[in-house]
Amino acid sequence: MDLLIKGGKVVTATSTFKADVAVTNGKISAIGTNLKPGKKTEVVDAKGKYILPGALDGHTHMAMPFGGTISTDDYFTGTRAAACGGTTTIFNFETQAPGQPMIDLVNEKLELAEKQGPAIDFSLHVGVGDVTTKEMLYGMDKVVDAGITSFKVFMVYDFGVDDGQFYSTLTHASEIGALVGVHAENNDVNKFLVNKYLEEGKVEPWYHYMSKYEAVAGEADERAINLAKMAGAPLYIVHLDNAQGVAAVAKARAEGYPIFAETCPQYLYFTKEVYKNGRKEVGLRPQDFVCSPPMKGKESKDALWEGIKTGVVSTLATDHCPFLQKEKDWGIVQKDGKTPGNFTTIPNGCAGVENMYPFILSEANKGKISFNKAVEIAATNPAKLFGVDYCKGAIEVGLDADIVIYDPKKNVTINNKKNQHGALDHTVWEGVECKGYPCAVYSHGNLVFDGKDFVGKQGAGKFVKQKKFKTKGPQL
Ligand code: URP
Ligand code: ZN
Ligand code: ZN
Repeated sequence: MDLLIKGGKVVTATSTFKADVAVTNGKISAIGTNLKPGKKTEVVDAKGKYILPGALDGHTHMAMPFGGTISTDDYFTGTRAAACGGTTTIFNFETQAPGQPMIDLVNEKLELAEKQGPAIDFSLHVGVGDVTTKEMLYGMDKVVDAGITSFKVFMVYDFGVDDGQFYSTLTHASEIGALVGVHAENNDVNKFLVNKYLEEGKVEPWYHYMSKYEAVAGEADERAINLAKMAGAPLYIVHLDNAQGVAAVAKARAEGYPIFAETCPQYLYFTKEVYKNGRKEVGLRPQDFVCSPPMKGKESKDALWEGIKTGVVSTLATDHCPFLQKEKDWGIVQKDGKTPGNFTTIPNGCAGVENMYPFILSEANKGKISFNKAVEIAATNPAKLFGVDYCKGAIEVGLDADIVIYDPKKNVTINNKKNQHGALDHTVWEGVECKGYPCAVYSHGNLVFDGKDFVGKQGAGKFVKQKKFKTKGPQL
């Protein structure tokens, strides 16, 4: 036995109980009362603390070329930040270029990841950029053989799919044991509104929200679900942000369809008001919050919380996609330094990989949801959906010792300069108070966060293979 965490309260998705947790060779080797350490065992006193599985962030964009630049965190700095917030596995999106075989993209990005040196384990989702021919579509097979069984299609952006391509991707994915995620927004309506507002001289970040308001996402959520039903395929809606979409997911699940939804902390905490005022009190401007989809109104925020409580929303992820404030300012003056900018010239995305677990656990600590629910949506369900529950997502004998010791009495106010560990120069979470915080984080039984600093190793994280997706109904 290498490590013995003694006297804490173990939290799983379904139960909470007092137990010691033993770790041997990077795996959880025993869970029980009064476990005895060996001569060389390191013993950690966890009295008054919770023992949780490390979170799995199913939605990150590290080192991603986007919006005329590259997202600020790479596979190392992004995973360092993740680790310091209790997230011990990420799933990074990598998007196929037109004409590029998907497997070439995978090989290229695995090489990039290895070069940058992730601090924690990772896997990939392949963003579908070209399924215009049968040959390109069937390129998915090699990706599944390589251990990546999750894909994402975009109903928006220039590289997005049309409904026919979406339908064929869904159909083929279900044949080969893969799960398709979707970024659901109505592209045509969005484009129409963008042009209208720009013609009217309405260029401020508020019009980013106005051109992607609730129904722009809600209609696409409903259409995506209909396409999945038609294709007889499972579907995962990423970054669900609106009440209409929550209702559509709830209905499809009640009918017995394997429809799953993810939401993100930003949709549970902020509202569209940030596009008017930013958060002046902590120096954040409206453009700092520009991400897609944008934050919505309070009705949607409340519906998402309800969706979590009722099981309609299955997972929490961050959509971590950070850009520097000088890049966010391209909405005022574009990258060339002279052309006036507008809300469409702001790189889309915000940081959050370090904040997801502390945020949702803090909400649990305040009584909004149970700790079990927090563990379920941030760890156990993403592990199941993305086929890594054979090694991650729970405190269970035989699984990787990716463990968070959580102190419910340690309060932390997010301060980008003082206590955040990514590469970004700001965070939308600045000044947010967390009631309770991780005080130790382990990856494969090795300490990576000591409650203050990153103490892990660059390059220690490994690629994790995903099993095939076999779930036929709404239950995981
Ligand atoms: O604004 C965001 N979310 N940027 C990343 C790309 C995406 O759509 O997820
Ligand atoms: Zn997206
Ligand atoms: Zn995303």
